[in-house]
Amino acid sequence: MSFVIASQMEEGFNAQLRTHASSPLVIPVPEERPWEAANDADLLLIRPSPQWRRSKTLSRPGGWPGRLKWVYSASVGIDFYPSWVLEAPLVTCGRGVASAEIADYVIAAIYAHSKNLDAIGVHQPSEWKPRPLGRVSGTTLGIVGLGAIGTEVARRALVLGMQVTATRRRPRPSPLEGVKLEDTLQAVIASADHLLLALPATDATRSLIDAAALQHAKPSAHIINVARGSVLDQDALVAALDGGRLGFATLDVTEPEPLPADHALWRHPRVRLTPHVSSNYTAVRQVLLDKIAADLDRFIRGEPPSDIVDSVAGY
Ligand SMILES: NC(=O)c1ccc[n+]([C@@H]2O[C@H](COP(=O)([O-])OP(=O)(O)OC[C@H]3O[C@@H](n4cnc5c(N)ncnc54)[C@H](OP(=O)(O)O)[C@@H]3O)[C@@H](O)[C@H]2O)c1
Repeated sequence: MSFVIASQMEEGFNAQLRTHASSPLVIPVPEERPWEAANDADLLLIRPSPQWRRSKTLSRPGGWPGRLKWVYSASVGIDFYPSWVLEAPLVTCGRGVASAEIADYVIAAIYAHSKNLDAIGVHQPSEWKPRPLGRVSGTTLGIVGLGAIGTEVARRALVLGMQVTATRRRPRPSPLEGVKLEDTLQAVIASADHLLLALPATDATRSLIDAAALQHAKPSAHIINVARGSVLDQDALVAALDGGRLGFATLDVTEPEPLPADHALWRHPRVRLTPHVSSNYTAVRQVLLDKIAADLDRFIRGEPPSDIVDSVAGY
């Protein structure tokens, strides 16, 4: 009997999934209630669609996880799904699929800020004057969350001559030589000219970067959030920027998304806001397909697939 995949991806993606050597039966999921496919499939392939986000507080549907053996989240973050999704026998995520591209976004943000690219363009002869610009080499990047994204950013920063400090949840060595792992969050914040937030949204990380944490930042520091809006206290951020205790913020994520129309972050002169796009790139679909195919191969061989979600840690 065929392995059945209920997929929330578009039909072109599903057509490519069907070409896997195991010839899986790939079926669509009910648009509004994707979890209802649980009784019809072995694997449920999900993405953080508006239907899931609207159902975050929905209680566990009767019979969940049905006949499912595996839930595969196309996104790394599993915080957009209700917590009962993690009760499936196996949950894996798309860790690594866009890490390199997000790292490129972070490096672009660092250069755009240091070289003041938005402000130094000139449009008439009278504007042809020298401007002081910052440097990147020799500055320090502090990374909160040295996982797939944090490591890709660190790799680039080291090549560019930056110092890199970092913290992670578990006391494990750095995957990269040259990264200084600090014992405390405060030490990373205090060291940073650019402070990258690349940690998951969990109960433990909600507002981790709050007013008290921001007090350790250099007044010139540039904070970059590509993780989730919830890890950064946005009121404390605005207060720190307005009070001269923080230099600049690049935010790809906010809470909520989008922010209310009158929120201070939309038009703040020292904020660059982007609409959760740092992971967007043209090849992402193929990279995800390749990752799923390799995981199906492992599963069929009786081996664990990649990037199993730890339901206790929440990522
Ligand atoms: N903007 C976007 O489009 C986009 C795209 C992809 C992902 N994201 C977000 O970015 C997050 C990180 O992605 P990733 O692929 O790098 O994930 P990852 O590989 O799971 O890395 C997460 C890192 O955060 C660390 N961490 C967890 N809890 C922590 C805590 N309380 N304090 C300090 N560090 C903590 C982990 O520590 P250990 O190493 O000890 O486990 C790990 O180093 C995702 O969870 C997702 O929410 C956003």
